[in-house]
Amino acid sequence: MAPHIGLYAAASLGLVFVSGTAYLNRQKRRENHPPIVDIPTWEIFNNPREAYEKALKDHGPVIAVRRKGFLEFIVDETLIQTVLTSDQTFSFEQAMATILNLRPFVSLFWSFFREIDDLVQNGINPRISNILERIFVRSAQSSLEHGTIDMFEHAHASIAEAMIILIFGEGYVDERNIQVVTDAARDIAGLTGMYQNSSAFGRRFPTIWSILTWIKVIFTSILAFFRVIGPQVWRQVRSRKWIAEEEKPTNVLEYLSYKHAKGGNIGPGAFLWIMSMLLGIIFASVHQTASVVVWVVFELALRPEYLKALREEIHNNIDPVTNDLDSSNIGEVIQRAVWLDSFIREVLRTKGDTLSTCRFTTSDIPLGGYTIPKGHLVFPLATLVHLNPVHHPDPTVFRPERWHGSNARPAVMSSPNYIPFGLGRWSCPGKVLAVSEIKMIVWSMIVKSTPRLDGNKYNIVDPLNITSVPPDGQLILEPFSFQ
Ligand code: HEM
Repeated sequence: MAPHIGLYAAASLGLVFVSGTAYLNRQKRRENHPPIVDIPTWEIFNNPREAYEKALKDHGPVIAVRRKGFLEFIVDETLIQTVLTSDQTFSFEQAMATILNLRPFVSLFWSFFREIDDLVQNGINPRISNILERIFVRSAQSSLEHGTIDMFEHAHASIAEAMIILIFGEGYVDERNIQVVTDAARDIAGLTGMYQNSSAFGRRFPTIWSILTWIKVIFTSILAFFRVIGPQVWRQVRSRKWIAEEEKPTNVLEYLSYKHAKGGNIGPGAFLWIMSMLLGIIFASVHQTASVVVWVVFELALRPEYLKALREEIHNNIDPVTNDLDSSNIGEVIQRAVWLDSFIREVLRTKGDTLSTCRFTTSDIPLGGYTIPKGHLVFPLATLVHLNPVHHPDPTVFRPERWHGSNARPAVMSSPNYIPFGLGRWSCPGKVLAVSEIKMIVWSMIVKSTPRLDGNKYNIVDPLNITSVPPDGQLILEPFSFQ
């Protein structure tokens, strides 16, 4: 018996030791937990900038705040760079899976985002100059048809068409495909929770809201995407062999086909993966860009004093008789358009992004004197860098001139003081395409018309989702001619 008693005693001691250590660790973590600040829901959704800035000022540099049932961590400007660029400890992929409410499938996200990133860098960016002309033509044709115009619809359709050409090729452009792509982009963007903010039900019952939204989106727009676009893609990928060394891809679908073909053929598994990639790229590229177009055009409508300089930049590409745009050399013209570029940069800086980028803690992480526990979303508060007087004197004054001369910075250049496209390894790979599209749409509008806003104002619809939910206003286009 005696050895058994000894064994039990040793095991019990071990157990006490292990649970004691675990308890002490828990206790230590708890003591070192960032302050939990209670911000009323109304304040979070209606006044996020002031609410979070005040909480960080009072308790910073890291605070924990409950929102939609989750404990989230918010950091101030001193920690933004660490959070966005320390990939090992702050995971981008896990953050995306959490935001899309797809955590059970998180392992899929590792390869998914890496492949989407590769797709944009190598499948899209080298082809940008080929499609600029097409965006130009469509925008110019439809922008002047009405005195008033739904800018978001117009931008969505123009960008969806541009993406269809880039992804599938010219042969896919028709009204039905544009509609299907536009719906998919809008509805998948909705899965990130942006419409949840404006729904009282969504804010009170986030999990039920998320499940219902997923079911609705799967059975409407995602199903339509597979039903309408699927057979066209299937026919194309099965119509030939894909041997990478023999030819170069001319669009994204071909790029993916070469990459995923086995023995030159695309099977059902590869087809489904390609379709998912295409949906992913449509989600990332269409909705946000269309929304930012609205921000840029509305800000321009409120600031007609900039129109002269913006029009001069495109003046040499205008037919003096018809006022039509000549899209030759458009890639070069875009590079030289410093006024429009700095106008866009200033809109991106001032529009008021708050919790626009985020990461997910992969372990307990020491940060700012505290320990952020594993398994939580961490958000930098973007207004603290974009509207920071140290980096941007008179930060709330709209002044594109600040990006000229010795301080010249293109709209796509990220830095710890400018994060509309994020920062670090996961910063937006599509930003050059996005800014080029915005430029084309603005130009094609202002060469024939002067934008004006009814009542000279717009309303911010969702202050917590500035980039994905465009402002609301009645845009009026008044005829303009260079003569
Ligand atoms: C004005 C329009 C756009 C804005 C404001 C925007 C902004 C962003 C932001 C903030 C991120 C996260 C970065 C981070 O967390 O560090 C991101 C990621 C991403 N964006 Fe954009 N984006 C825009 C347009 C586009 C376009 C047109 C494409 C595709 C052609 C695109 C593709 C992506 C992808 C694939 C990611 C995931 C990150 C990665 O794969 O590296 N975006 N974007």
